[in-house]
Amino acid sequence: MFIAPSILAADFARLGDEIRAVPSADWIHVDIMDGHFVPNLSFGPSITADVHKVTDKPLDVHLMIENPQLWVDEYIKAGAAGITFHVEAVDDHVALAKYLREQGVRAGFSLRPGTAIEPYLKDLEHFDIVLVMSVEPGFGGQSFMPDQLEKVRTLRKEIDDRGLHTLIEIDGGISAATIGQAAAAGCDAYVAGSAVFGADDPDAAVRELAEIAAG
Ligand code: DX5
Ligand code: ZN
Repeated sequence: MFIAPSILAADFARLGDEIRAVPSADWIHVDIMDGHFVPNLSFGPSITADVHKVTDKPLDVHLMIENPQLWVDEYIKAGAAGITFHVEAVDDHVALAKYLREQGVRAGFSLRPGTAIEPYLKDLEHFDIVLVMSVEPGFGGQSFMPDQLEKVRTLRKEIDDRGLHTLIEIDGGISAATIGQAAAAGCDAYVAGSAVFGADDPDAAVRELAEIAAG
């Protein structure tokens, strides 16, 4: 089980300190927004590379951008351990996944809440991660959408029935109040932004999430 604090909710002016304040994190979730695929803008490869310099933890890069195939090399150079792109933003998700694996990074795809999972089930063996969005991508601090857990259940069954190793990750509105439902539905990895960096003790928040998810 993996807890991935999203630095989108951190104080960007104190990013190094914020990352050092979550030693219990398994991954650091890095949200990249381009102002086109989503209305918001976050940061790009150079800040991602700076983040890589201050932590040994795997960087879980979530690209909420148009044409991710044009940018993945920059994020690989910046030190991404895994790159998750949106299926809505590419023509050939399997080709991009193959490319990412050839470069030695974990390949992930994500879907907006309104995008069905069924058409992508046949391609799961090409992916290390499926990131289920439980909010509309673009902003931190939104409310968890419990209806998205149906996708998690579908994925859990498919992955287990076929003996695959793809991890199911969930992103958006994850907190102590919601992570239990996500765990019960079959998630393996949990992104949490405001629930971690908005807490008085961010590392205690990470540990609490892990405890609840472990059941
Ligand atoms: C939303 C991002 C999330 C976001 C989660 O578009 O992909 O990773 O930071 O933030 P919270 O946990 O506050 O919903
Ligand atoms: Zn994210």
